[in-house]
Amino acid sequence: MGELFWNKVAGVVIGAVLVVLLIMELGHMLVPSHSKGELTAENTAYPFDWAAIESGSTGAAMEEVDTGPVDFGLLLAAADIGAGERVIRRCVSCHTVEEGGANGTGPALWDVVGRAIGGVDGFGYSSALGEMGGEWSYEALYGFLESPANYAPGTTMSFRGLAQQEQRINLIAYLRSLSNNPAALPDPLPAMEEAAPMDEALAEGTVAEEAPAEEPTEQ
Ligand code: HEC
Repeated sequence: MGELFWNKVAGVVIGAVLVVLLIMELGHMLVPSHSKGELTAENTAYPFDWAAIESGSTGAAMEEVDTGPVDFGLLLAAADIGAGERVIRRCVSCHTVEEGGANGTGPALWDVVGRAIGGVDGFGYSSALGEMGGEWSYEALYGFLESPANYAPGTTMSFRGLAQQEQRINLIAYLRSLSNNPAALPDPLPAMEEAAPMDEALAEGTVAEEAPAEEPTEQ
């Protein structure tokens, strides 16, 4: 009986390991990897103008999404407010979102975009937010919501943060909608336009031969 018993144990253990491996593999197949935090056409569920993002002459626009200045104009214009409304469910245990909403564990979030940081009267802010200064710009919200503890060390908002850029952008678009007079969207960062110099060159006739397909001679 002893021998059979250990055979069974080994069988169960090996079986369990196989099941775990299978589930992990399935997970990888079903969920696109976000490990690099990169947005691609594959792992983005809302309609981005990928052509616009990629048309920067040096591909600069794409890099900026990852490292340089975030193109809030472009991203917020393409954001999915409905998806942001689903993300806010993670906030409403501590925050109200409706007009005239009371402060809870956290300050009321109505009209938060553009509001002074730590600016709700009667809410007892930590000194981290109370002394930060500035206002809740898109950029400030973007940084704070990624990691409250990193952005405002000592903050009493015990929320881990939203690592995914997509979630933060959708949420910020939703927060912006919490107003009777939503803050203006910034202009998208300028894409490098080749059109103007090209038109000039064509007008001067210097590159006429290079455009044989287009011969609209009517002026
Ligand atoms: C566990 C409770 C809790 C959760 C969950 C929570 N917050 Fe907070 N939040 C707070 C507290 C507390 C503060 C005040 C922090 C301080 O004074 O340091 C705060 C502050 C803020 C502020 C600054 C407001 C101001 O007036 O300066 C914003 C913006 C904010 N939270 C947004 C959010 C969003 C968006 C979510 C959901 C993704 C969220 N919070 C989730 C508790 C929470």
